[in-house]
Amino acid sequence: MNPARGSLLDIEHLEAGEILRILKFARRMNPDKPRPLLKGKRLMLLFYEASTRTRSSFEIAAKSLGAHTVLIQSIGSSIEKGESLLDTGYTVRAVGADVIVIRHPNAGAAQVMAQHIDLPVINAGDGLHEHPSQALLDAYTILRNRKSFKGLQVAIVGDIFHSRVARSACHLLSKFGVKIILCGPPELAPEIATTLAPGVRVTRHIEDALRGTDVIMLLRVQTERLAGLKIDLTEYIARYQMNPTRLKMAEPDAIVMHPGPIIRGLELTSEVADGVQARILEEVHNGVPTRMAILARAVGKMR
Ligand code: NCD
Repeated sequence: MNPARGSLLDIEHLEAGEILRILKFARRMNPDKPRPLLKGKRLMLLFYEASTRTRSSFEIAAKSLGAHTVLIQSIGSSIEKGESLLDTGYTVRAVGADVIVIRHPNAGAAQVMAQHIDLPVINAGDGLHEHPSQALLDAYTILRNRKSFKGLQVAIVGDIFHSRVARSACHLLSKFGVKIILCGPPELAPEIATTLAPGVRVTRHIEDALRGTDVIMLLRVQTERLAGLKIDLTEYIARYQMNPTRLKMAEPDAIVMHPGPIIRGLELTSEVADGVQARILEEVHNGVPTRMAILARAVGKMR
């Protein structure tokens, strides 16, 4: 079965024109001015992994469009009892779901759901694969701070290897000709990442990544994810942590982004996290209108 219209499974296969349409519609969305575009619809949030920002903003977005939301987490549901992904899908459909939002530790989970359950499915992060709504809200945030993508250079610093956010961002930005520089030690920013999308380059040197950069996207460096990799965190901090001195190497008006959760003292210092160039909370804020647009699109109301 083909995924239902309105599904959002990845950025890789989404056309540039459709991305711009979503971003344009998101500009018209405001959670403080509710619009009943999803009135009476039931949104199932299937979360097989922890989440704060993504889950709460999908929930707020859905409610401000008039939808009912039901949250199903792996703990406390039949998922815990060993029910399969598809059986959970058939169940939520049988209880009357209209849209499914799913976060899952396995790459391809959203795709599998969409191929078997005849409902629009929105991928809220699948393993190491993609996180399309995050890429859209990041793009929205960039365009709130810059006139267009034209001539932009974006540096992505940190654990790129384990980041679905980085993968989706590369796909999205490369569709608009943005220069993308991935930066980190070889274990976290492998050379093969250049094959992700056109216009992607890898460097080991933070100065090289920051020179001429307009947007610095930092990524989480989570110790649990580093098991088996030879990463010395003290060395990581010495070479890559974003601090005020390094920030000055980028364009004077460069903005600092991070999908969260941030780890102060590791990926960035508090001066940078709380500084005037940081857009980290703005990203969280922009997650709501962006997801309102994604949900309106899911039910065919993005007009
Ligand atoms: C990210 C995720 O879960 O992929 N966070 C988010 O959704 N805002 C980033 C991460 O966990 O590294």
